[in-house]
Amino acid sequence: MVIEMVLELTREEQEMLDGKQGRATQKAMEIITALGEIYGAERLIPVSSVQIAGVSYHNLGEAGLEYLAEMAQDGRVRVLTTLNPAGMDLEEWKKHGISEEFARNQQRVIDAFAAMGVITTCTCTPYLIGNLPHYGEHIAWAESSAVCFANSVIGARTNREGGPSALAAALTGRTAEYGLHLDKNRLAQVTYEVEAELNGTDDFGLLGQVIGARTRKKIPYIRGILHATTEELKAFCASVATYGGVALFHMEGITPNRTPVPDDVGTVAQDDMDRAREELDDEGAEIDFISIGCPHASIKEIARIAELLDGKQVAEGKTVWITTARPTKDLAIKMGYYETIERAGAFLVSDACCAVAPLKGRFHGLMTDSAKACFYARGKNAFKTIIRDVEECLREATS
Ligand code: F3S
Repeated sequence: MVIEMVLELTREEQEMLDGKQGRATQKAMEIITALGEIYGAERLIPVSSVQIAGVSYHNLGEAGLEYLAEMAQDGRVRVLTTLNPAGMDLEEWKKHGISEEFARNQQRVIDAFAAMGVITTCTCTPYLIGNLPHYGEHIAWAESSAVCFANSVIGARTNREGGPSALAAALTGRTAEYGLHLDKNRLAQVTYEVEAELNGTDDFGLLGQVIGARTRKKIPYIRGILHATTEELKAFCASVATYGGVALFHMEGITPNRTPVPDDVGTVAQDDMDRAREELDDEGAEIDFISIGCPHASIKEIARIAELLDGKQVAEGKTVWITTARPTKDLAIKMGYYETIERAGAFLVSDACCAVAPLKGRFHGLMTDSAKACFYARGKNAFKTIIRDVEECLREATS
């Protein structure tokens, strides 16, 4: 394939590429310009926010860590940059059964990011803890659910970056202008009429599973949903991105982007939702792990969980993880929710999640409200799964 070079650089960008602003910046600019050339971008654009994925040592390994250490030698981020979940709670890892060796290596990863000036808040819901772009803002985020949320619910603009390209955007403050940064690529391609009744994060996750599986990377225009909370939308984003690679959707009356409505119309009926639920419910699943907070729980969700667990006790043989961002956990501590949750025998785990923590072999069956968590529990950890609403998950945990 012959790639036509159309990318024009400013003087500062050329200096970065020529190594005049350090070796890490040069490497980062090489990544950004290579992507720009591959995708036919005409220029680079500034980004105001970055979110980096590939943070768990479980996924990175020594090779990934070496790369980060090399970039950290003289690389410094130029814009607000936060991280995706790591493989453990950075403070309370021991009580969650994480090994000393894993903890040591995970901390080396975090230290390398910190040396580059990254805010080492590890979360897939950065928009809940201060990494919040506004409508139309160009950003470079990597976590698929957060990318979908930023593009669709906020109306910011980002492609789904890989770990190295997100870091490169942070070190240069630039991304190549292609894909979802351009108006012409943000229009809906297929319409769905939702006829099913939706209640709660589990239902919105199932809807994402149905639409994702049918849409396959197209941009859906979704009608028929009268109300959706932030928590339900984050559940939908996680699922539609996982099951369909969707990075942008339009939801009539709910999301802010404008688009013509496509003539190609499909429906999502209650039967479709029931089938999706059956598909995630494994027969004979022996539930010994309950996890809520995929994507990371908001303070509102944690308050509700604390209320539901108040005065109850997690049953013997069961482990409960409520996963969230550290600033949200700190707030939960201040509000007394942490104490209520932990007194019940559940763990409020920050910085990590059940998909990127080293949990393989520790449990048999996961019950969760998250369709995305089911996908990774099966694929990465070989757990059986059941999807239920939050109330039922906690009932299962305490019975
Ligand atoms: Fe977030 Fe982990 Fe789920 S990164 S979206 S909690 S799989």
